[in-house]
Amino acid sequence: MLLVEQLGDEQLNTVYSPILSPLAWDLGHIASFEELWLVQRAGGRAPLHGELGRLYDAIEQPRAGRNELPILRGAELRSYMREVRERTLDVLDGADLEGDDPLLGDGFVYELLLAHEHQHNETMLQLLQMVPGYEPPLPPPLAPDPAPEGPETIAIDGGRHAIGAPGDRFAYDNERPRHEVEVGPFRIDRLPVSNGDFAAFLAATGAEPPLYWEPDGAGGWIDARFGRSAPLDPDAPVVHVDHRQASAFAAWAGKRLPSELEWEVAAAGSDPALANLDHDVFATRPPAAVSERGVAGMLGDAWEWTSSAFEGYPGFTAFPYREYSEEFFGRAYPVLRGGSWATRRSVIRISFRNWDLPERRQIFSGFRCAEDG
Ligand code: AVJ
Ligand code: FE
Repeated sequence: MLLVEQLGDEQLNTVYSPILSPLAWDLGHIASFEELWLVQRAGGRAPLHGELGRLYDAIEQPRAGRNELPILRGAELRSYMREVRERTLDVLDGADLEGDDPLLGDGFVYELLLAHEHQHNETMLQLLQMVPGYEPPLPPPLAPDPAPEGPETIAIDGGRHAIGAPGDRFAYDNERPRHEVEVGPFRIDRLPVSNGDFAAFLAATGAEPPLYWEPDGAGGWIDARFGRSAPLDPDAPVVHVDHRQASAFAAWAGKRLPSELEWEVAAAGSDPALANLDHDVFATRPPAAVSERGVAGMLGDAWEWTSSAFEGYPGFTAFPYREYSEEFFGRAYPVLRGGSWATRRSVIRISFRNWDLPERRQIFSGFRCAEDG
């Protein structure tokens, strides 16, 4: 809510990009998802507005047509959001979180809703970057010291590694079951590819710049988000590149993208508390945290494209619904890992898997390179 407080109904209902929903749709969708899963399914209550939920079904309604739907707007939207939240708290008051219901057990559905709402915060930030004059609502906190210097690449031995979410806390179905895989020896870059690295690649090859980069007139580049110009930090991770741009850079550097399994092995031990998440700074910055193996900036700043396609792990079972993950298996969506500056801290963990179409770059996507070991 803090993110959209400064916007009027006109901005909430404007389509800034054909691949993004108007903000009013996201807000109604967050409330509708909460009503469906918590109030209706877990709480057994009837819907507040009959068939309204269909308008907010992400699979049924393609992004491009969402502003033409009779969705809730203005005061109606705000009161629906308020009423759903009141009902949610009411259901939770009487809910048995220790019983056999898999939705309620350990508060699963409650964690699902928070994660879902927080994930849509990031989707909304994709759009907010396109709103001219939008002001980040929070002052940036002090940055931790950047990671100490180190080698360009870190060698990781081959062997058997545990992949996926441990059983004791909330995770999505696609992170389970946790299982062992054999990973061959590989090398991974200690740092994500930076703005400076990407500018050198552009200068050498004439390739296409990231989204929101504009020429500064003197051979360099500026950051043109929120309808204004700002300098780019050469040491901060590059963001808003698609999978093809990332792969082209890696090939130019004589390297490749890591697989998602290699990424997860290299990221073990990274601390989200030190990562640039939670829209703390509304931009990437030089990474501070390192993993157990000394790989820096695995969490936060920019999602990292991998060479892996999104598939279920061996023994996958859909829960609580097919459309979260399973619907997207087998369609060659590349996996992204690690979260971005726009990801909420509560959402990200080392086992978290994101995916998108390879041509998407309005998402907060960067990458790092790897090599065979
Ligand atoms: C995990 C980011 C691919 O936005 O399509 C939000 C998350 N799922 N509501 C998406 C999601 C349902 C999903 N991604
Ligand atoms: Fe959603």
